[in-house]
Amino acid sequence: MENPIIPKHIGFIMDGNGRWAKKRGMPRNFGHSQGASVFKKTINWCRELGVECATFYAFSTENWKRPEDEVRGIMNLLRQYIKDIREFADEDICIIILGDISAFDEDIRVELEDIMQTSKDNKGFIVGIALNYGGRAELTRAAKMLCEECLRGKISPNDVTEELVEKYLYTNKMPPLDLVIRPSGEQRLSNFLIWQAAYSEFVFMDTLWPDFTKKDLERAIAEFSGRNRRFGGV
Ligand code: FPP
Repeated sequence: MENPIIPKHIGFIMDGNGRWAKKRGMPRNFGHSQGASVFKKTINWCRELGVECATFYAFSTENWKRPEDEVRGIMNLLRQYIKDIREFADEDICIIILGDISAFDEDIRVELEDIMQTSKDNKGFIVGIALNYGGRAELTRAAKMLCEECLRGKISPNDVTEELVEKYLYTNKMPPLDLVIRPSGEQRLSNFLIWQAAYSEFVFMDTLWPDFTKKDLERAIAEFSGRNRRFGGV
């Protein structure tokens, strides 16, 4: 497609790692490891294509229910990728962690907080990484913070508007979410950016996340570009 409309912000649900590994007779964590390498490549593809922001669903509030060795495997992958995430931060990329990382091991938490802090004014691109994230937990957190502001007398309930709620979301520095891409054949949001996706386009594909390529991304953008977004209008 010539001159497609490029989404400013894409959300990626990195699904299908387990099935990808199973098809090869390998442990699920092998799939997550391949998935993490695709995560890194996807950031570069987004930058090359002119996207401004990409948010990745890496660990949900529900993922703690997985077997202990799988959770440990994902945490170790994160440990391994912290250096790469820091390198992105050194390339003028702002890194935003969405979710409650207080539950993570201290070494990971300290590194991620530092990366967020040191990259916060970077303007080249925004990478969001959702870790121990759930859309409902995010909205509950925003509601709590708003209640606290009310109790402190900083605001009154009548001041609570959609714009104000957005200020209390992890995404408050990001452009609106234009497109959500979910590979692996599942067609649901799974508690990912539920507020932000209110008017997003969705592209689902059968490819498993470890097989996701730049061509898949280009195809999803072309599909997005051909959609007629009316935002409730006519
Ligand atoms: C979903 O696939 C994937 C996850 C729950 C984990 C995704 C995590 C990574 C790709 C690693 C993240 C690492 C970094 C560095 C950000 P699934 O396991 O549900 O696949 P299945 O549906 O085939 O079982």
